[in-house]
Amino acid sequence: MSKRFFITTPMYYVNDQPHIGHTYTTVLVDVLARHHRMLGEDVYFLTGTDEHGQKIEKTAAERGIKPRQLVDEVAPNFENLWKQMELTQDHFVRTTHKSHIELVQRRFRELSAKGDIYKAEYEGLYSVSDEAFVTEMQAKELQAQGLAHTLTTLKEASYFFRLSAYENWLIQLFDRYPEFVKPDFRLNEVKQFVAPNGERGNLQDLSISRTSITWGIPVPGDEEHVVYVWFDALLSYMSACRDGYWPPQIQVVGKDILRFHAVYWPAFLMSIFRKESDDLNGELPERVRQQLPQSILAHGWWLMGDTKISKSLGNIVRPRELLHFGHSAARYFMLRDMQIGHDRSFTFEGFMERLNADLANGLGNLASRSISMLHKYRSGAVPVPAAWDTADSEIKDLIGNTPSEYLARMEQNNFSGALEYLWGTLRALDSYIVKSEPWNLAKDASNSVKLDTVLAQLYRALRMTAVLAAPVMPDMCQLLWESLGLPGRVENQRFADINFDEPAPGPVKDPRPLFARIDKDTAIAEIEKQQPPQLPASKLDVPELRETTDYDTFCKTDLRIGLILEAERVPKSDKLIRMKVDIGLEKRTIVGGIGKAYEPDQLTGRKVVVVANLAPRKLMGIESHGMLLCASDNTSKPYLIAPSDDAQPGFIVK
Ligand code: MSP
Repeated sequence: MSKRFFITTPMYYVNDQPHIGHTYTTVLVDVLARHHRMLGEDVYFLTGTDEHGQKIEKTAAERGIKPRQLVDEVAPNFENLWKQMELTQDHFVRTTHKSHIELVQRRFRELSAKGDIYKAEYEGLYSVSDEAFVTEMQAKELQAQGLAHTLTTLKEASYFFRLSAYENWLIQLFDRYPEFVKPDFRLNEVKQFVAPNGERGNLQDLSISRTSITWGIPVPGDEEHVVYVWFDALLSYMSACRDGYWPPQIQVVGKDILRFHAVYWPAFLMSIFRKESDDLNGELPERVRQQLPQSILAHGWWLMGDTKISKSLGNIVRPRELLHFGHSAARYFMLRDMQIGHDRSFTFEGFMERLNADLANGLGNLASRSISMLHKYRSGAVPVPAAWDTADSEIKDLIGNTPSEYLARMEQNNFSGALEYLWGTLRALDSYIVKSEPWNLAKDASNSVKLDTVLAQLYRALRMTAVLAAPVMPDMCQLLWESLGLPGRVENQRFADINFDEPAPGPVKDPRPLFARIDKDTAIAEIEKQQPPQLPASKLDVPELRETTDYDTFCKTDLRIGLILEAERVPKSDKLIRMKVDIGLEKRTIVGGIGKAYEPDQLTGRKVVVVANLAPRKLMGIESHGMLLCASDNTSKPYLIAPSDDAQPGFIVK
């Protein structure tokens, strides 16, 4: 029986339409699913939608409709888009499905019976945008970023999951099975969350119910509470798993939801699969470990400008704008340009340049030239190579080595590197054509054997490319496959069966253009015409007004105009900037968490508003005397407040 391979995307929130971020995640999973099928594995590919919780309830209320109506309207947009893109998901789950709801309630009851879920009074800080209670440490971080206003104090009875009890097992999981989190550089941030600086005893129990909303799965036996949306959504991987495919091999997520998948999720599963007699302070039993996902693969974000492309910011790139250039082309671009785990800025210009270079000039040109030469010089038949000079042997070796190198990089989730390597081979073939000059070889019958070798190699390289790249570019590779005169579907080939020494079949068919060169200016003008008007960020997700305050209380805060005299980055921090600020009365050192939004040289000479009578506090060992006022949207991006030009350092702001 072939190896089973269960792979998932996150379950997408249905508070708006799919954008490039969702498309990227889903395409990545589709590529992996197709790739593993071609490795001969028995794949189960699951995707779906996350339909409960505060975000959905709020969006529905803003639109004046019931949450049910909203989710029924939006969920099909995701499902239809994946169908239209011919993705190969085996199942699309919605968290409002009855069978899912039943499983969540059943697991809730089971974990309660085990003592891993308990009810208690909670009083503490709550982040509205994350829909999560926050620890003191997280609250301090948010304060340092000027995001304290995103927190409110909440007091309510809540059901808690005994997360703290799983600290020991989680740490063992990360230490002994570091491949649980990929890429490896993301593991550290997960470890830091569980045990900051290796210190134990920081992991707090997790609130997993809400009374502040009604749109959710009722807590069994206590229907005033609904189940927290993450406890609900994570369990959909289980409720929608096909029999015999558990556990997931790869769960692809964005870096923003890594903590939920790499900490909460394995802890829920440990609780589900452990026996009551297991010792939580002892070894993590292998029997339990085997029920956990093999790895959580976290990718970075597509950015537009320097902010995340996101539905709530109104800077969306709609999938149809990418698909306009062909599904294979869009898929190739996303996989080739994104280094897994890192962020990447998206520009239409970069997108078109990549496609022109690699698909029109690169593969497309090589294929049409090679196939045309096979027609012209050998009437379409594919010759058998008989003699090898040095250049022929070098290119033969390169073609021979390409599959193993490509597959190894794919195995390491280095998708961009795999494609880069394959396209390196294609470039070498271009040079091989230039050097061997088949058009001159054809003029003299004595060169016929050499010409056979050249043409045969080109054919084999193209056949290999059609097979290796098929998961990334299914329709383009099928076209290439057919142009090469090969029967059936390329996706039905198995990588292990590629044998380059086997005589090639043929005859080739007429070359079919794989990718037409894009004229950038015309295409950009067309796209700009199609862009929906951008909504100002402030229209969306505006935080509630805070409590009324009186004038005297407000005046206690001494706000002054300041002038930034110097600015430099604090070593080892990508966020903190140390500044010298003239506030009229004196020059002060202020450390601000604005380093992701501003470069030091954008700050020097700038006038700002300073909270001047704030008690000094140390940030990474540097004492900071005051704070700069910033506006913020619902991301963590700060926008410095700019006073009018003629306001002088020391002026009071009131
Ligand atoms: N509903 C949760 C997931 C629950 S899984 C049990 C959720 N949904 S989401 O719709 O907000 O986001 C889904 C995925 O899209 C996340 O992995 C997120 O990282 C990804 N992307 C959203 N915007 C993105 C970019 N701009 N770039 C790349 N991916 C990003 O979170």
